[in-house]
Amino acid sequence: HRQDPPDQGYDLVVVANRLAVDRVTHDDGTASWRRSPGGLVTALAPIMARMDGAWVGWNGAPDEELEPFDHDQMHLVPVALSADEVQDYYEGFSNATLWPLYHDVIAPPEFHRQWWDAYRRVNVRFAEAAAATAAEGATVWVQDYQLQLVPALLRTLRPDLRIGFFNHIPFPPLEIFAQLPWRREVVEGLMGADLLGFQRTSDAANFHRVAKRYGGYAFRSGQVEVEQDQTSRTVRAEAFPISIDTTPLRQLAADPQVQERARQIRQDLGNPQTILLGVDRLDYTKGIRHRIKAFGELLDDGRLTVDRACLVQVASPSRERVDSYRQLREDIELAVGRLNGTYDTMGHTAIRYLHHAYPIEEMVALYLAADVMLVTALRDGMNLVAKEYVAVRGAGAAHSGVLVLSEFAGAADQLKQALLVNPHDIDGLKDTIMQAVEMDTKEATRRMRTMSRQIATHDVNRWSKEFLERLGTGTA
Ligand code: G6P
Repeated sequence: HRQDPPDQGYDLVVVANRLAVDRVTHDDGTASWRRSPGGLVTALAPIMARMDGAWVGWNGAPDEELEPFDHDQMHLVPVALSADEVQDYYEGFSNATLWPLYHDVIAPPEFHRQWWDAYRRVNVRFAEAAAATAAEGATVWVQDYQLQLVPALLRTLRPDLRIGFFNHIPFPPLEIFAQLPWRREVVEGLMGADLLGFQRTSDAANFHRVAKRYGGYAFRSGQVEVEQDQTSRTVRAEAFPISIDTTPLRQLAADPQVQERARQIRQDLGNPQTILLGVDRLDYTKGIRHRIKAFGELLDDGRLTVDRACLVQVASPSRERVDSYRQLREDIELAVGRLNGTYDTMGHTAIRYLHHAYPIEEMVALYLAADVMLVTALRDGMNLVAKEYVAVRGAGAAHSGVLVLSEFAGAADQLKQALLVNPHDIDGLKDTIMQAVEMDTKEATRRMRTMSRQIATHDVNRWSKEFLERLGTGTA
């Protein structure tokens, strides 16, 4: 059934699983909100301030009913999830069904009808919250795999809206998507949008095939006419590769305190000639095991030694109540412990493993310290860490540093001067790591300069602007 626009609606409504703010608890016990870090929020905040924007999302804790509030020139509309819904919709269907299914079934996806019921129920709740927030004729931009049913649900409630959807993770090939018992419902959910955005052209092509097979939608040149209620509308599905906000990274890279911190890090590691760096959420899609295996074998073979090279692996805690993530942590920590037990000396370590999240200042210092950045994802929608490294290394006069980048990360479509690898090919990965370690500065500089220009001209502001313009929404 239809819903009337609210009396006081917003012209641009972003709908995402997570709200754009995090709660911070102060020493005196009081709490306040702080804008979340991360490119999406940074990119959309200024547009939201200009356009009278609202953000609909979950605040990350179970069983909390919060009233809408304003923060930082943004209107925030919290959606509540019960503890059971966190289990079934978030940890279950989103992160133990869709996440592994969409990432090439690296881990086996689990299909449970109870999880699907919760997913549908929670998607209805998000759609209703968006319908109650958007002004007449407003634009609603739905984000990511947790909310694939929202576009069609919202169109039924509010046919007056412009609806966009962006999938931040890969969209799988038909043969893999076919496993999903609710494949038709997901296709119909997405087809409620006017514009569907994907990271890679191959993701958009996968969706075109899936939409044909499971919904009969024949996309041509990325678009199809859909008949509904005796009217016809156009649905587009195209690639819009996401990027990062380079300005704060470049500023920090030029900050003498951050540069000093980078020198300190190298010294604390015992001044190895080469610092290799991995930065990931602790996720089985990131290929952390493959990276550690390759590095370990290079030590076994004597092609690297611990006084020459050290691998710093930042693995930020993620989805810790989902089984496959628990198992991954066990595996990684066993592998790191074994390797360090074998090769560490009093003054040097093979792998400095850090199971923490760090503030952006510390991350930039790490990027500045790292001679070689290892991004070995087995499948990744984009991988913004690769782009952050390039933005930081390309900021100074030196333009040095080597990026080893998996061809299975979306970023490989833009960062063609990286050393591209197939992380499943351990011998190839080992040789590529050695090529990176031994690359002369001139060649490293040439590659980094080209990539840094790519990122500078294709930042996240351009991404959001292009998406919203294509959707038919002016953002000026
Ligand atoms: C990926 C997804 C996002 C998600 C993020 C963190 O980047 O595309 O939608 O928010 O991971 O995961 P989390 O489960 O903590 O939100």
